[in-house]
Amino acid sequence: MECLIPPTVLELARRARAVTVLTGAGMSAESGIPTFRDPATGLWSRFDPMSLASQDGWEADPELVWAWYAWRVGRVRSVEPNAGHHALARWAQRDDVRLHIATQNIDDLHERAGSEVLAHVHGSLLAFRCSVCQEPYQAPIEVPAEPVERLEPPVCDCGQYVRPGVVWFGEMLPQGAFDAALDACLEADLVLVVGTSGIVYPFASLPDIARGHGVPVVEINPEETNLSDHVDHIWRASAAAALPALVEALGN
Ligand code: OAD
Repeated sequence: MECLIPPTVLELARRARAVTVLTGAGMSAESGIPTFRDPATGLWSRFDPMSLASQDGWEADPELVWAWYAWRVGRVRSVEPNAGHHALARWAQRDDVRLHIATQNIDDLHERAGSEVLAHVHGSLLAFRCSVCQEPYQAPIEVPAEPVERLEPPVCDCGQYVRPGVVWFGEMLPQGAFDAALDACLEADLVLVVGTSGIVYPFASLPDIARGHGVPVVEINPEETNLSDHVDHIWRASAAAALPALVEALGN
């Protein structure tokens, strides 16, 4: 289906020489990864993702939390980047623009589409490390063929459990990641906010900060969000429809 580009958005994209794209779970939705706030189905529908993705959840029950992350690793491995991820990678290859991606997503779909990601502000699922000595863990991660409710995490050489490289509620953001995203927003002449509900801070503060510095901000999201009143232009479209249409319209 043809995706109509709002003329002002196209004009901003044509003129922009520095574009920063802020992405959230909606970016990967059309690859088949459910967003954070989608109603879950199956085994994990009985559990609250917010408590699984937390330091307290891990300390209370590492086997439950690991089983959930093992299932998520399986989901990420089994899907492919979508047309939106590929469009951003193509856009970044143009000589007339510097394009930065700062994402809340812990998957590797931007990278698998060929993009370099400036900042994974909420960490990277596949960057496993020891939960105590912090040593990176490189051995392959086994994912059960069927989701299970409990799974013992791998064990580091130091004898402690290995954990995913994500940021849990109650933890600090990876050093430098937020600052890199912030700098990229401030030096941009266009910020696109794609597929995020804008609920989780400090990431959700970036559009307002950019606007405060006179940088135009466009939201690409099929639904209204917490950010919709804080952007200059709204494009109600999905990531995998809007981004390829926009990049194609920029021409060669
Ligand atoms: P959410 O699940 O909160 O929001 C997903 C957004 O994507 C919603 O606004 C949807 O309308 C939108 N969306 C759905 N399908 C889309 C599509 N095809 N194209 C574009 N947009 C689409 O996900 P996030 O905003 O990423 O943090 O969540 C932010 C953080 O909350 C996550 O990084 C995670 C979670 O708690 C941590 O784990 C620290």
